[in-house]
Amino acid sequence: MLQATWPYPRWIAHRGAGKLAPENTLAAFRLGASHGYRMFECDVKLSSDGVPFLLHDDNLTRTTNATDKMGPDSDVIGGHHPWGTLAQLDAGSWHSRSFAGEPLPSFEAIARYCLRNGYFLNIEIKPTPGLARQTGDVVARHAAQLWQNASVPPLLSSFEVPALEAARAAQPDVPRGLLLDALWPGWLETAQSLGCVAIICDHVLWDQVTMTRAQNAGFKTLSYTVNDETTARHLLDLGIDGIITDRVDLFTPVSPCA
Ligand code: G3P
Ligand code: MG
Repeated sequence: MLQATWPYPRWIAHRGAGKLAPENTLAAFRLGASHGYRMFECDVKLSSDGVPFLLHDDNLTRTTNATDKMGPDSDVIGGHHPWGTLAQLDAGSWHSRSFAGEPLPSFEAIARYCLRNGYFLNIEIKPTPGLARQTGDVVARHAAQLWQNASVPPLLSSFEVPALEAARAAQPDVPRGLLLDALWPGWLETAQSLGCVAIICDHVLWDQVTMTRAQNAGFKTLSYTVNDETTARHLLDLGIDGIITDRVDLFTPVSPCA
C-alpha cells in the first residue's frame, strides 16, 4: 500500500492547527489548510459503542463542555460514552467564542475531509486506558476501508505497542510509526518487530547518533512537537523527514509537497 518513495509532506499540522483553533476539530483542519498545510496529525480513540472519534485526553473536561452538559459528578471519560452523546458536545467554546458550537468530529468525518481535499493524515491511535488493542484494531480497519481507493494511505502511529500490534494484525498494509517520548531499551528493535516504516520522536531525543541508527535501519524519521525555528533548523540539518508542529502560523510549507 505504501509507495516506494516516502509520499508524505515534511510539515504536519499538530491536532489540525496547533493552538490557533480548538484541537482535533474540523475547524482546526480548515485553519491548518488555510496556512498551506497538506498533512495533519490527530488523536483518535473509540466511543463506548465503538465509533472512532477525535480526542486527545482520556477525559472530556479540558476540550468540551461535558461538565456543563452532563453535570459535575458525571463520568467524563470520553470513551465511556456512546457516539450519539459525544456528538452533541461543544468542542469549540473552551478555545474561543468564534469556535463556539464546533462539534467533536468522528474519525470518518475527518477522513472524508482529507480524502476529498487530497490531504494526508497521520492518525495517532490514542486509546482510552485498557483499550489499546481494540482501538488499534478498529482504527486500522476503518482507515483501510476509508482509504481503499486512495493512492496514499494514512500513517498510523501510537506510543502504545499493543495498539500497533493490533493495527498490524488487522491491516498490515496500512503503514505504522512508533511514537517515542523516551528512548526506552529496545526501541529500534521494537519498531522493527512491529513492521513500522517510521519512528516519531519527541524532538529532544533526536541527535546524530539516534538519527543515524534509525535511518541506517531503514526508518523514516519524524519529530513532534516542534514550535521554534532553532529546533526545526537543527532537525532539518540532522536529516529529519517530517516535522509535526503547532506553529502553522510560523512555519509555512513552501509547496504542497514540501
Ligand atoms: O503524534 C505526535 C504527538 O501528537 C504526540 O503527542 O500528546 O500531542 O498526542 P500528543
Ligand atoms: Mg497526538
